Amino acid sequence: MQSVKLQSRMEAVQSPIVQVIGDLIRQVPGTISLGQGVVHYGPPREAIEAARHALGDAATHEYQDGTGIPILVERLTGKLKRENGIDVGRGTRLMVTAGANMAFVHVVLAITEIGDEIILPVPFYFNHEMAIDMAGCRTVRVPTDAHYQLRLDAIRSAITARTRAIVTVSPNNPSGAVFSEASLREVNALCSERGLYHIADEVYEYFTYGSARHTSCGSFAGAQGHTIAIYSLSKAYGFAGWRIGYVTYPEHLQSAMMKAQDTILVCAPVVSQVAAAAALDVGRPYSTPHVHELAEIRDVVLHELESLAPLAEVPAADGAFYVLLKVNGEIDAMAVAERLIREHKVAVIPGPAFGMTDGCYFRVAYGALQKATVTEGIGRLVAGLRAIVGEGQLTKSSN
Ligand SMILES: Cc1ncc(COP(=O)(O)O)c(C=O)c1O
Repeated sequence: MQSVKLQSRMEAVQSPIVQVIGDLIRQVPGTISLGQGVVHYGPPREAIEAARHALGDAATHEYQDGTGIPILVERLTGKLKRENGIDVGRGTRLMVTAGANMAFVHVVLAITEIGDEIILPVPFYFNHEMAIDMAGCRTVRVPTDAHYQLRLDAIRSAITARTRAIVTVSPNNPSGAVFSEASLREVNALCSERGLYHIADEVYEYFTYGSARHTSCGSFAGAQGHTIAIYSLSKAYGFAGWRIGYVTYPEHLQSAMMKAQDTILVCAPVVSQVAAAAALDVGRPYSTPHVHELAEIRDVVLHELESLAPLAEVPAADGAFYVLLKVNGEIDAMAVAERLIREHKVAVIPGPAFGMTDGCYFRVAYGALQKATVTEGIGRLVAGLRAIVGEGQLTKSSN
């Protein structure tokens, strides 16, 4: 009998870091997780009621149109026009997917051949790199500046004959940076000039603080033919488990996108789509008080972490619900993350998952917990880093 060949394309793909850290957290009860990028609130009541009602409708239990059920498509079309300046139907298509991650996978499959390259500014969202690797493509990492803002020179010089797309995530996971409108316009224009797609992940569009504003890349003049914009209900509506995301893309990708959708998903879960339509009826005001609350938590987080100077720095983070802490010194981030859990009962995500391999970085997520718990967690983080890094023992060579 022949043994099964165990090698697969997945060997080249990084392991889901949230699960790796989650396993460690489970070993240490009482750990406060500043790890996973989720919000602490659930969906609007109206969405839950709509889902309950939908259970009695036969159509809920059947396959539906792959692009999305009509009522949700209509609600999203209105939202995209009003809030994002995107005209669905005029050369731009819309598809509802089971979350924004799936939209990204579909897009990568739709626009590449094996061996093609996609440019990701570092730090990147790990599932983007994972999707690119899985598709048999190559991630080309380009640096950002000291404030995690885009560096157009680095992006421009990374373009080769195999480049298919440039990805921007703003507001950013993991840095919390909100990219300047000017830099996003430049990326979009560069893509147009070089025949590339601009994939704009805008799932944190509602999560900006102070004077920072979200920029909708699909609204730029001339963007229509090469811009792909990805959105999600997971954060804005506390919808993570319902799995609803959506993506707008140029008309010419419709056939390729439908092939991916039909094979991978057929259609997004219908009951979730019904709930999503009801959530969109409530609209952006649902997230507004939550964003205000997050702004207060963010102030606490920044204030506490600033006290770590000069041991560590936190560059400005005006969006999402993350900060990317830079710890000064030659220290192994994974080893420190493990000790923070085991010895100080607080979890953060180490930088290498986001491509930050040069230096010691940790993503701190503050969206999932109530203010008091975050404050306690940050206290543990500050004390833990002082104790561990202050020791100066965990050098890179010691792991
Ligand atoms: C930048 C970014 N894109 C996409 C996603 C995934 O969203 P969804 O739950 O809709 O798949 C996340 C989730 O953390 C994210 O941070």
